[in-house]
Amino acid sequence: MNNFVFYSPTEFVFGRETEKQTGQLVARYGGRRVLVVYGGGSVVRSGLLQRVEDTLREVGLVYVELGGVQPNPIDTKVYEGIELARREGVDFLLAVGGGSVIDTAKAIAAGVPYEGDFWDFYAGTAKVEKALPVGVVLTIPAAGSEGSGNTVITKVEGLRKLGLRTVYELRPRFAVMNPELTFTLPPFQTACGICDMMIHILERYFTNTEEVEIGDRLCEGTLLAIIREAYKVKQHPDDYQARANIMWCGTIAHNGTCGVGSEEDWASHFLEHEISALYGVTHGAGLAVMVPAWMTFMASHHPEKVAQLAERVFGVPVSEDKEEMALAAVARLKHFFRYMGLPVNFRELGIEQPDIDELVRKLHENKGDRLGNYMKLTMDQCREIYELACR
Ligand code: NZQ
Ligand code: ZN
Repeated sequence: MNNFVFYSPTEFVFGRETEKQTGQLVARYGGRRVLVVYGGGSVVRSGLLQRVEDTLREVGLVYVELGGVQPNPIDTKVYEGIELARREGVDFLLAVGGGSVIDTAKAIAAGVPYEGDFWDFYAGTAKVEKALPVGVVLTIPAAGSEGSGNTVITKVEGLRKLGLRTVYELRPRFAVMNPELTFTLPPFQTACGICDMMIHILERYFTNTEEVEIGDRLCEGTLLAIIREAYKVKQHPDDYQARANIMWCGTIAHNGTCGVGSEEDWASHFLEHEISALYGVTHGAGLAVMVPAWMTFMASHHPEKVAQLAERVFGVPVSEDKEEMALAAVARLKHFFRYMGLPVNFRELGIEQPDIDELVRKLHENKGDRLGNYMKLTMDQCREIYELACR
């Protein structure tokens, strides 16, 4: 196990009707003038936005709204938010929604006190030194942004989708998590969220770091829980307990718990980010296509950890032939994704002829010569993985 620092100071307020506490939580964490950030309207239609804003008024907070954040959020909305927040003297960001809304709120939080262009943080030319505090009311378990210090934004010019990782500055002060709020999710979004959280675990699980028994077992146990609860949610979308389990899995999948002490991989995510940047597909659906392709590649190049996953999570019988075991894991993972209604190749994702040259070109531009850690992939190998995803 490697040395590590684990610091995860977010207060999670979990359960039925917890959104009623939002105003008190904002006040407790020092908010006085709040920018409420939300998406394309699901929280308006469900009445959640109204209920949350009522709690702000009850404790005497002033607020302004920024709606219209789109999935795969873009820089222009961030600029709009920074300008609005400065004009209104905002001192707290409240995200009501999913990863796209939270990530936009985080970008605004970092951008308001910064004199330069907020994109510098994503381009890697500046470091976030300070940021306004962020709070979250989560409506979709998926990205894990409610418990992470990360944010991912797409720059419209050049369609560059880049992530920013901070240890502390952008971790939400609190996250309100009421599983009932996820009952209204369309089945496809539920499935995409489930896929995303599974892959957040696998990005940590696929490591060469040795003696990470606790990390491995946390990953395997959480994956088993997700798969079991996913079947229940698929059959009964308003099963509170199953939704609750899935929601918490989404948080621990990405708040660092599963990966402490391990070198993490993240190649699959970077391969996918180029797809969602270029084609605007849902991140979780893009991952359902890329991860089986990545695992298929690993079956013939570096199958050990994939074979361990096969045995411990997918019940594949142990054999001498690790490649065969790894390929069996791929088959079972694809079967599960298909059952959930997810695509497992480019065609099913709605992309008949992916522009692989362009995907590799942008990947190289954004990430350099090598990708990932489990195996440091060359751009030619990344091309092979994109080609495997066509099958
Ligand atoms: O926009 P509205 O109308 O709210 O609808 C949203 C959106 O269309 C809808 N939705 C959310 N909650 C709902 C609901 N519909 C009905 N009922 C509800 N309760 O779901 C759609 C997707 O929302 P979005 O926020 O885009 O989903 P998600 O949480 O999956 O976030 C995806 C974004 O997060 C990034 C992804 O790349 C993508 O841009 N990621 C962020 C990470 C992070 N910050 O750490 C890590 C991830 O790996 C990921 O890259
Ligand atoms: Zn993800």
